[in-house]
Amino acid sequence: MLNFPCLDIARIATSEAVQSKGYGTAMIEKIFEVAHTVNERYITLEALIEHYHWYSKRNFIPLIEEEAIQSNQHGLVFMMADLYDEKLVDLYFDE
Ligand SMILES: CC(C)(COP(=O)(O)OP(=O)(O)OC[C@H]1O[C@@H](n2cnc3c(N)ncnc32)[C@H](O)[C@@H]1OP(=O)(O)O)[C@@H](O)C(=O)NCCC(=O)NCCS
Repeated sequence: MLNFPCLDIARIATSEAVQSKGYGTAMIEKIFEVAHTVNERYITLEALIEHYHWYSKRNFIPLIEEEAIQSNQHGLVFMMADLYDEKLVDLYFDE
């Protein structure tokens, strides 16, 4: 059992009528912005396996590698984004 502080996304959805217009991406970007603001390093979620690549393209990686291929028994893949920005930290200490 993993135990670390994170911002966990419980549900995210775009109305069917307006999918594939960038709203989902905008929501994810806003969530990343909120996580940065509250100084949260990790964002986690359980993605439906059919949306695995959508999240992969948005900086999420699977916590359990095998789930990316076959999901868990609920059709979900536990994924995480790490907001640690090495360049930003270096810049902070350089200045
Ligand atoms: C997963 C979900 C939230 C994505 O939302 P969305 O608003 O359709 O997401 P986006 O429009 O940002 O991205 C979808 C695709 O639209 C296309 N797209 C994005 N912006 C676009 C734009 N401005 N114009 C045209 N196409 C665009 C892209 O191909 C993109 O996919 P890709 O970048 O992975 O190739 C949505 O499919 C959904 O609500 N599904 C039902 C509920 C669900 O399954 N939730 C997730 C549980 S894990």
